[in-house]
Amino acid sequence: MYLIMRVNIVFIFLASLLSCGKKESVNPIPASPAADTILFTKMPFPVGAAINVNLMQSNPTYNAVVKKEFNSITAENAMKFAALHPTENSFTWSNADYLVSFAQINNKRVHGHNLVWHQSLPAWVTGFIGDSSAWENLLKTHIQTVVTHFKGKVASWDVVNEAFEDDGTLRNSIWRQKLGNDYIARCFQYAKQADPDALLFYNDYGNEYSAVKRTAILSLLNSLVARGIPVNGIGMQMHTRYNQTDANISAAINSAASSGLKVHISELDVALNPDNNVSLTLTSSLLAQQAAKYLFIVKTYNAIPSAQKFGITTWNVSDADSWIPGQYNRPDWPLLFDGNYLRKPAYKAMIEGAN
Ligand code: G3I
Repeated sequence: MYLIMRVNIVFIFLASLLSCGKKESVNPIPASPAADTILFTKMPFPVGAAINVNLMQSNPTYNAVVKKEFNSITAENAMKFAALHPTENSFTWSNADYLVSFAQINNKRVHGHNLVWHQSLPAWVTGFIGDSSAWENLLKTHIQTVVTHFKGKVASWDVVNEAFEDDGTLRNSIWRQKLGNDYIARCFQYAKQADPDALLFYNDYGNEYSAVKRTAILSLLNSLVARGIPVNGIGMQMHTRYNQTDANISAAINSAASSGLKVHISELDVALNPDNNVSLTLTSSLLAQQAAKYLFIVKTYNAIPSAQKFGITTWNVSDADSWIPGQYNRPDWPLLFDGNYLRKPAYKAMIEGAN
């Protein structure tokens, strides 16, 4: 026993000699960012969150995190068709105006989401009866009334959202049915007429898991640009998962950048429970894998040309606010902040990925 103790003491002594000579590697990002770290000040492009008006007004912690950490905001729901234009002859601006005012007071960019989508449509639209010119007038009136209302306050718009199916075909939405395939071009023209200074995006999901979809999207956008249709950017929602391959994510980001358009990762979240395991529990391993995926996404995005970096927006703020658990009826933890609005490893990974 005594001999073992002597050996241990010698070992510890030798180890201490070795370590004192070793130069500690300088870690530019502390193990966990200091409390006064502000996310957007550490990022070379705008970093935003989709925000919920009710939470902004009822949850002071939510409000404080949005105010401190992000320099761009997207309305999660307040600017959708049904929210703004509930009846044919009425518009309700109050919730969206609250977000715009918050952004102006706190010097944040506002990205408008969204003008034309197959979801969040009020009954008067889905039940509308009229000829093609009546439908065209419905579409133009909505777009131009909304964009005019926010002119000079909303920097950019998701003009058309999710017009493609995952197989690369055009979604047979009510808009396509009533207005024909080329409705997308006219949506951009109507928006441009209403606010010539706003940046206009096409927004969709699946770019990282469906090569045929991203190819179809890029083919359309390139053809629109070639026709002189005022498309400024591509929004990739990137509702992805911790085990999505780096190759697929890289292909999505770099193919979008090849268009020369501005690229917005517009609805980022990294799900930890894509297989819908209702009894899954959160582990440090899952958190670490999630952080690695956020880091890769940011690092890959940060490598595209600077002029094309419109920014990265997460789809809400904390795991407690995410759409995913309710949508899929499963536990999940997809965002940068946990349910107590404390930073997760993914927060630090965002900063590491950009530096
Ligand atoms: O406001 C009503 C409330 O009055 C009502 O009592 C309640 C129950 O029916 O519904 C509330 O509206 C819900 C709305 O969110 C606001 O909370 C809608 O039912 C619900 O469908 C809606 O879900 C949103 C969804 O888009 C559909 O608009 C999610 O919060 C939002 O995160 C999600 O976001 C979408 C993007 O816009 C497009 N990309 C995909 C992304 C995730 O689906």
